[in-house]
Amino acid sequence: MANRKYIVGNWKMNGMQAQLSDIAHIAAIAAKHGGVDVGICPPITLITAAANANPDFAIGAQDCHFNEKGAHTGNVSAAMLKEAGATYTILGHSERRADHGESDADVKAKAEAVHAAGLGAIICVGETEEERDAGQAVAVVTGQLAGSFPDSANADWLTIAYEPVWAIGTGRVPEISDVEEMHGAIRAKLGELMGEGSDAVRIQYGGSMNGGNAAELLAVPNVDGGLVGGASLNAEKFGPIIEAAEAT
Ligand code: PGA
Repeated sequence: MANRKYIVGNWKMNGMQAQLSDIAHIAAIAAKHGGVDVGICPPITLITAAANANPDFAIGAQDCHFNEKGAHTGNVSAAMLKEAGATYTILGHSERRADHGESDADVKAKAEAVHAAGLGAIICVGETEEERDAGQAVAVVTGQLAGSFPDSANADWLTIAYEPVWAIGTGRVPEISDVEEMHGAIRAKLGELMGEGSDAVRIQYGGSMNGGNAAELLAVPNVDGGLVGGASLNAEKFGPIIEAAEAT
């Protein structure tokens, strides 16, 4: 049986207090589409206000530190995110891996910390264009997955996002056949890593998903949702993706 679709907006470093109204509009659309799970991950500065204003809507974070507390200037812990009002966080986004040198081992440690604090996690994996051109995409992505995979993995709290680095923010998306191949490979790897229960772990596609291509992407076998950047910033763009997810 297909998994319930899960659509999450990653706002990255976008959004001031003035944009809280956009989250409220998106939450209102999500409330009308009860067949799909929807959330927004705003910057940390908006988490508490967004969660307080939209108590039935899933507000998440974009990263967290793997330690509980201590001398880590500029970082926040999973417990801090939870107290702020987040119920889950994105981990290992390619922008974190590239800009902050996050390794698979870091992402794994973060996932364990997040789970211990009672939050959900979306672990991101994805190949660069050079890696795809070299025919290494599946090996790179399944390798990242294995290296980032927490021992306590369970579909109740863990989601995987496949995000080809070259598709993020570029308007380019992979061939549908390539999406199907990669999501199938991730599903098979989850089976190896987890055994029983792996089919229930949702695998999102991310990278230039929008209202025009969401229906086709979300219909691909083993695509259980989307992690959406640019097209999640307002209800006009994000709403059609939520609608497409409910229709598939
Ligand atoms: P994009 O970003 O939808 O703007 O390509 C997706 C992401 O980075 O999660």
